[in-house]
Amino acid sequence: MAIVSSNAGSSAPRREPVLDAQPSPEEATGRPDDGLRPKRLDDYIGQDELKQVLGIAVQAAIGRGEALDHVLLYGPPGLGKTTMALVLAEELGVTCRITSAPALERPRDIVGLLVNVQPRDLLFIDEIHRLNRVAEELLYPAMEDRRLDLTVGKGSTARTRSLDLPPFTLVGATTKAGSLSSPLRDRFGLIQRLEFYGLEDLEAIVSRTADLLGVSLSAGACRRIAGCCRGTPRIANRLLRRVRDVACVQGRQNQIDEGLVSQALSLHRVDHRGLDAGDRRLLAQLDQHHDGGPVGLETLAAALGEDPTTLESVVEPFLLQQGLLVRTPRGRMLTEAARAHLREQEAA
Ligand code: ADE
Repeated sequence: MAIVSSNAGSSAPRREPVLDAQPSPEEATGRPDDGLRPKRLDDYIGQDELKQVLGIAVQAAIGRGEALDHVLLYGPPGLGKTTMALVLAEELGVTCRITSAPALERPRDIVGLLVNVQPRDLLFIDEIHRLNRVAEELLYPAMEDRRLDLTVGKGSTARTRSLDLPPFTLVGATTKAGSLSSPLRDRFGLIQRLEFYGLEDLEAIVSRTADLLGVSLSAGACRRIAGCCRGTPRIANRLLRRVRDVACVQGRQNQIDEGLVSQALSLHRVDHRGLDAGDRRLLAQLDQHHDGGPVGLETLAAALGEDPTTLESVVEPFLLQQGLLVRTPRGRMLTEAARAHLREQEAA
């Protein structure tokens, strides 16, 4: 599979979509490539229902010799949406062209992406809820009828010209499925939610990553990392790297036990439930300054000096899932479990 990144919004020269030009996944995803991403569905741990649904759709598309239907992946960050898009391209044996909605600011950005699409290519648009109206409206006929409607000229001489596109698959990813307009959402044939991972899957992911990083962990150390990574592989792998740092400094890369993991976690102020300083600050703000709530998102964000969208889509999902926070029509409220957790942390 070739991976081609599109940074259409920048002034950098466009990378021509030549099949054998293979930028690194780092270039393609904008995140450091650590070589840790699973490449095939069989290597992808967890998300069993998602893998089953997509596995069948891929097999059927290959069998019919067609492009895979458009896929919308949604859910909290760090659960593997980009990885799944890369895995789908690998399974289909096609090129994955990666971009994100903020890079498709001008009409010519999305036009450039679509006119370069090759038969059965997979286009991955991250943060698809951030697409602007013009880009979205260019996508509708492209997704539905494989047609790109271009307006040529201006004012009374303006004309619409249609260009036929080859069959392709759009994979959209979002942390905010509710912010997608319904016309866009309705054009995806497969709409799949990624769930937080269970402990067993996280232990398997930590163990796999440890092997790839060349460090050796006790079963207890593995369980400890899995237990405080907020159900999120990206966090598990990040914590594992921090644990590896401490192990390196102590010359114990091959004897990482639970005690060493605890040292690294307290160094980074991650508690046994996986809450970090930012999470505890949000809970403490509600507890100490709003008597547990309810408080509106905007008020809470302003008090914490945070962006409301980041609070809502990045910080809150795990706190909600853990039953530490509830959303009510009148605002956010702290739960008894959160109060108990804060007291426990103060005492520690
Ligand atoms: N690394 C990060 N996420 C993973 C997953 N779901 N399966 C295997 N390795 C991973």
